[in-house]
Amino acid sequence: MTEAFIPIFYFSGTGNTWWVGNQIAEELQERGCQAQPISIEQVTDDEAHELIEKAAMVGIGYPIYGSDAPLIMQAFIENLPAVTGQKPMFIYVTQAAWSGDGAYFMRKLIEAKGYQIRWAVHFNMPNNINADLGWIITMILKLFQAKLPHAAERAAKLAQHIVDNQPWIMGKSSFLSFGWTQRFFFRKGFDSSHKNIWSVDAEKCTSCGRCVRLCPVDNITLVDGLPQFGDQCNICLRCYNYCPELAILAYKRPYNPQMFGTQPYQGPVSEFKPEMLIEKK
Ligand SMILES: Cc1cc2nc3c(=O)[nH]c(=O)nc-3n(C[C@H](O)[C@H](O)[C@H](O)COP(=O)(O)O)c2cc1C
Repeated sequence: MTEAFIPIFYFSGTGNTWWVGNQIAEELQERGCQAQPISIEQVTDDEAHELIEKAAMVGIGYPIYGSDAPLIMQAFIENLPAVTGQKPMFIYVTQAAWSGDGAYFMRKLIEAKGYQIRWAVHFNMPNNINADLGWIITMILKLFQAKLPHAAERAAKLAQHIVDNQPWIMGKSSFLSFGWTQRFFFRKGFDSSHKNIWSVDAEKCTSCGRCVRLCPVDNITLVDGLPQFGDQCNICLRCYNYCPELAILAYKRPYNPQMFGTQPYQGPVSEFKPEMLIEKK
């Protein structure tokens, strides 16, 4: 395991999955591995494939959306190169509260390509949804105030399991973990409602274009100076959470500072900026 090269490919909308990926990488580095967190927005498929070829093991990380993986990560996984020799893989997900089998449900697709998932671990992190989804959902989400030290401890535990080659799989039984129930409804509503929730307050928008630059799937264009939303949204929340004018509306409602504080969720630590996930190093 010593000096083993381990690329950790992650997608992060608002910083939680970035932060956990860095924690895991640091813990692995302390244990003698050459772990490198990589935002999938900063590599081409070809570059990723080259790194995977050199790797002793591969890590994958994504935020949970309705017990599901973001579409951009699903596409990345579908494009993973086939490997021989059962290359080990770990998957970590970040979530506000619960996902059932969120880290393990794509195992068939992944294992068919020759990887062996030996670790699939859930990390509870702060909730990044600040849209007014009705008071019941809002209250439930407010109950879950994840603590970063707990996630950091779990990252250390995962790293230790990895170097000890001791498997750790959460949500192993897809059926009994009930992740499928949430995924069913999330997928059912995805095209008809979830991905089409955005609009803009034309009075507040200053046409700065930050939403356009931050969108991971190029779903936003400025038309006559105002953002126009296509139908490829992944619901990562970057446009909504990082608009400097709070001009993006969800379900035609503006951000509600009385309910959520002066600004939407901007990441787990103050040094995080979403631009860090997209700009080429
Ligand atoms: C569209 C959407 C759906 C979500 N669904 C869930 C969920 O099913 N379970 C959960 O615990 N958290 C859920 N969350 C919360 C995020 O998974 C969580 O805050 C995550 O850590 C965000 O990671 P990121 O900052 O790397 O984007 C959801 C967030 C979004 C935006």
